[in-house]
Amino acid sequence: MLPEKKQVLIVDDEPNLRKILSAQLSRDGYDVLTAEDGERGLMQLREHHIDLVITDLKMPKVDGMTLLKKALEEEPELPVVLITAHGTIDTAVEALKSGAFDFVTKPFDKDEVRQIVAKALKTRELRGTDATSTSAADGARFGIIGTSPGILDLYAILERVADTPTTVLITGESGTGKELVARALHEHSSRKDKPFIKVNCAAIPKELIESELFGYERGAFTGAVTSKPGRFELANGGTLFLDEIGEIPIEMQVKLLRALQESEFERVGGIKTIRVDVRLVAATNRDLKRLIANGSFREDLFYRLNVVPIRLPALRERTSDIPLLVGHFLTKFNERLRKRVEGVEQDAMDVLVQYAWPGNIRELENVIERAVLFCDTQRIRSTDLPLEIRGMPALANVPLPQADLQAALAGEGGLKEHVKVAMSRLEKELVSRALQQTGGNVTHAARLLKISRKGLQLKMKELGLREPSTDKPD
Ligand SMILES: Nc1ncnc2c1ncn2[C@@H]1O[C@H](COP(=O)(O)OP(=O)(O)OP(=O)(O)O)[C@@H](O)[C@H]1O
Ligand SMILES: [Mg+2]
Repeated sequence: MLPEKKQVLIVDDEPNLRKILSAQLSRDGYDVLTAEDGERGLMQLREHHIDLVITDLKMPKVDGMTLLKKALEEEPELPVVLITAHGTIDTAVEALKSGAFDFVTKPFDKDEVRQIVAKALKTRELRGTDATSTSAADGARFGIIGTSPGILDLYAILERVADTPTTVLITGESGTGKELVARALHEHSSRKDKPFIKVNCAAIPKELIESELFGYERGAFTGAVTSKPGRFELANGGTLFLDEIGEIPIEMQVKLLRALQESEFERVGGIKTIRVDVRLVAATNRDLKRLIANGSFREDLFYRLNVVPIRLPALRERTSDIPLLVGHFLTKFNERLRKRVEGVEQDAMDVLVQYAWPGNIRELENVIERAVLFCDTQRIRSTDLPLEIRGMPALANVPLPQADLQAALAGEGGLKEHVKVAMSRLEKELVSRALQQTGGNVTHAARLLKISRKGLQLKMKELGLREPSTDKPD
């Protein structure tokens, strides 16, 4: 497949700036759209598939900050780069806090913008198509929902450590709420009016991590036409959240360790030592002990980070929280999608509680969003849930063929015959599940069942299974 041209939207009320920037970016091979104010910018965003937005801060009608927030509400992963005339750290921090990818200060150099654009698009690509992280609106709420023992323990730890300068290491599978907890720690500390700065270590290209964290001085490398503070400096007085810390390159780990131990560092290309007061929270879904064992994570850094460990339980370890979470997300998506879904039917709730949730709360959140969107009755029914979730009740809940059992015990037919019937039921059950799980793909299902494709086809014929999606257990 040929790479498609990326679409960049430039929003600025200054015609000259729009012209220069769009000429430059077109030359660099992007498709460029422009808008002269935030209102038109938002319209463009709704009408086109935009990969990146560059917007001025001060504009008539809808300003850049509002544009940023609205754009992220609709598409949380959209990289937005702000142009600020004032260049104060405050505005920059405010923008980064609201989820901007980066900022440039006027007057800026074309090369600086080109670099940021390339970096933002690369970052987005690295993140893949998973457009589901927290939006600005979620961030505002900071509610951690749950009453299961694991979550009650969490509240207790939060209470104890939130308002301390102690470093916290949050671990847990993907989607268990690590970022939510990191933000809660910040919000419940006396640093809450200072910046919360997040760095996703997995999303920043390896060679840019150092300048991203520690900033750089003018002339430090080609393209460094101005100097720029790093995330440590921006987080001064507040909290620095190093997400996916397990991905940080080993060469950077020594520098990070020193910055943490001594609270001081130098910008790239700089000689001045900079001191900051930053509370550090780190998170990972990797097993750091294992990374240490295979030499990709430094043990000394681990101990420096793991002062207070918080392990977030997987959703399947706390199914009792599911109804509460479902209620929470119903309210959220009713509001956001302007719907009035009142609740969840029992059969649908049973399905939700039984499913294994490999993607944890984020997956549950997505399923509820989808269900709310498609639901046209007052309550969500199991048919509003995606097939891969409802197709798999726990094995223990497959109804036993009571009639067969009774017939056997009433002396009709012999043991052998009944066992044969039961076996073929079980066979049918497993084959149709395998097909469901693989979306009806016979080759994949055969691999799963460890039989040949041909064998599976024969089996399906024998069992009367043709259309996997319509053949449900009775
Ligand atoms: N206890 C909770 N109550 C309410 N919402 C929650 C809870 N835990 C997580 N969420 C929501 O689930 C989603 C995923 O959470 P979050 O982004 O914090 O997970 P994560 O552990 O950082 O995931 P990843 O490892 O994929 O980055 C978010 O929208 C978050 O608001
Ligand atoms: Mg996260």
